[in-house]
Amino acid sequence: MMEPRTSSGNPLPLGRGREHAPRNSSRLAGRSAVRRGWRYRWLPSAGNAPAADDRRGDVRRGGMENVGPMPSTPTTADAKGSEIEADRWANWLLNVRHAGDPSYRHAARAMAELIRDRVLDGARLGAGMAVADVGSGDGLIAFGAIARVGPTLRVHLIDVSGPLLSYAEQLANELGVASQCTFFEGGAEKLSGMDDGRFDVVMTRAVLAYVANKAAALREFHRVLKPGGRISIAEPIFRDQAIEAVALTRTLGAAPGEGKSDFLRLLQRWKAAQFPSTEEEMRLSPIANYSERDLIRFAHEAGFVDIHLELHVDVRPSSVTTWEVFLGASPHPLAPTLRTILAQQFSEQERALFEETMRPLVESRKVLETDAIAYLTAVRPAP
Ligand SMILES: C[S@@+](CC[C@H](N)C(=O)[O-])C[C@H]1O[C@@H](n2cnc3c(N)ncnc32)[C@H](O)[C@@H]1O
Repeated sequence: MMEPRTSSGNPLPLGRGREHAPRNSSRLAGRSAVRRGWRYRWLPSAGNAPAADDRRGDVRRGGMENVGPMPSTPTTADAKGSEIEADRWANWLLNVRHAGDPSYRHAARAMAELIRDRVLDGARLGAGMAVADVGSGDGLIAFGAIARVGPTLRVHLIDVSGPLLSYAEQLANELGVASQCTFFEGGAEKLSGMDDGRFDVVMTRAVLAYVANKAAALREFHRVLKPGGRISIAEPIFRDQAIEAVALTRTLGAAPGEGKSDFLRLLQRWKAAQFPSTEEEMRLSPIANYSERDLIRFAHEAGFVDIHLELHVDVRPSSVTTWEVFLGASPHPLAPTLRTILAQQFSEQERALFEETMRPLVESRKVLETDAIAYLTAVRPAP
């Protein structure tokens, strides 16, 4: 059941019995209340952290009139670290994604902002709209939307992760935009508690990839949109990584022990730990059992019209250039880090061979990364 977490209206049931942010737009009041409930530890140290500062920058660039002076203290250090670390989604988004490395965080952030901007372009936002950011995470899309439109936009942040919602709530208070935001705990597949025809726009970035029933999510987006409302989504397409892992598994399995280098076998185990590596696993995995064409089909079957999809594929030298980040980051929230894989699945000798071969490639920027992102917009037809 989706739980409203804040609103500018009457008190509502709270998620998991946690302390709740106040329902007013006073930034200072909001900050102190959120601070009581949260203490957050950045990895590897608090000094690396300033995602909140990034978000403040966004709103400032948007020139919002209602933001006012920004708090001088970085409040990210006040959130509750143990709850963040215990939550798969929050821990990945706030810690593991960039392995706590400031320069890699910067690179990852720049990439995410590019994608966010395309989602916002596709959303065609306007003054006075009510929009939903489903799988809102730390509010990248939601706060970006407010920065574009200003104080008349109403944004509903919806996520399965309670700690991420609380974190986003804290940011909303820091940014002085809490009065424009409502936070709901729940899943994209069933937007319980959301009336039909409530929103002008529904947006996602890197969310449907983790949703088992994507068709149901698209049907829900259609239901909660006003006639004439639109979706604008950007989703990673991980199929190629999985297909590569499956191919590696097959190649090595076809002739075990014959002329296959030991390193290739380690490579396969690493890939197989992060991506589906057999056809059966691909079929069962939410990250690999769909293509961009399936997204079009789900949108069409849900009743959307004017469906437009662009697939952007970028192959480039990896932005990970240090061994520490290579060990500590993971490519998506469901994947263990290489550090964990090496510790749990490799012998000491295998670890040494893996590092000896891989590390020079990483440090000389010979490792390639592929990003495939599907951008989809579609409209709920007006009667
Ligand atoms: C990779 S993060 C992306 C966060 C954010 N959209 C952004 O652009 O930075 C995936 C987000 O989806 C949320 N999520 C995962 N499964 C979900 C579901 N079934 N319904 C709604 N949100 C979900 C996670 O909690 C997380 O916040």
